[in-house]
Amino acid sequence: MAEIIGAGEALERALALLQGGDVVAIPTETVYGLAGDATNGIGVARIFEAKGRPRFNPLIAHVADMAMAESIALFDPLSKKLAIAFWPGPLTLVLPQRPGNGIHPLVTAGLDTIALRMPRGFGGDLIARLGRPLAAPSANSSGKISATTAQAVAADLGARIRLVVDGGATPVGLESTIVKAEAGRLRLLRPGGIAAEDIEAAVGMELLRGGGAGVEAPGMLASHYAPGAAVRLNAGTVAEGEALLAFGNRRAAGWQRATAFLNLSETGDLREAASNLFAYMQDLDRSGARTIAVEPIPFDGLGEAINDRLSRAAAPRDNTQPTT
Ligand code: TXA
Ligand code: MG
Repeated sequence: MAEIIGAGEALERALALLQGGDVVAIPTETVYGLAGDATNGIGVARIFEAKGRPRFNPLIAHVADMAMAESIALFDPLSKKLAIAFWPGPLTLVLPQRPGNGIHPLVTAGLDTIALRMPRGFGGDLIARLGRPLAAPSANSSGKISATTAQAVAADLGARIRLVVDGGATPVGLESTIVKAEAGRLRLLRPGGIAAEDIEAAVGMELLRGGGAGVEAPGMLASHYAPGAAVRLNAGTVAEGEALLAFGNRRAAGWQRATAFLNLSETGDLREAASNLFAYMQDLDRSGARTIAVEPIPFDGLGEAINDRLSRAAAPRDNTQPTT
């Protein structure tokens, strides 16, 4: 069972866990977050594992200050204005990533944009001490509502995580508002802890709505992650001209023929496989193979989300309908 430690005494313990690639549940002003070092793929994979998320939705990266934010993302003038007006606070900005920012691709599910937020309180202190951003979705298991007390987090995730930092009931009590800048306008992707009207007042323009979270939320389009190469799942054999994305220590027949080869995890560790997935798909795609054959990957634990992502990559390319 997870230990529950008061925010006043928890900093060193939380730091040690994060530095070791583990996850920690932390209070923020909105809801509790399940945090991992956003630069550590195994730490990020553990977040999905603990939540039992059936798919890799992109996560919010939490920063301590504006310098950290600007080292991760490229701010347009409107987004900068909102950051100055509302950070730290319950506002998340979706921005283009700064190349070479060190964020692990599992945080953004391989996208070139990133959701950023500067939280108040314990989270901010922890990030400043760690010196690296924290990836953190709400600290609830998949399909449940977000937790607003340490006790609710422990009751839900306590068997799967080591530490819940208790900062009392979260003052805002609902998730952050998510906004994305689009060609000189701002689109509301998710209503949340800051009223849309307050954002509109701060920038002096109306927010675009609709076509937002549901459609825009990455991972919703079946073909969103389609690489240039075709993707063939559950490959038992490798054909001429195919690259092979392997898993575990049993090879598909004819694997020596593969034009390029990467193994998600030789030992069959799904956490390691999850942390390698996006980068390896990109590498094999860049190799110029016409098809990427993918060996079977089990469906237990993180395997469900890995298979979900791969089946989206294999989906017909003209599919623009949201899938859920
Ligand atoms: O208040 C909050 O925002 C809490 C606390 C812990 O910070 N976090 C939270 O995270 O609600 P989560 O993972 O439950 O929701 C994050 C949302 C998802 O709907 C996801 O699709 C969206 O942010 N998101 C993340 N990255 C995105 C991106 N690059 N583009 C568009 N949406 C993105
Ligand atoms: Mg959530």
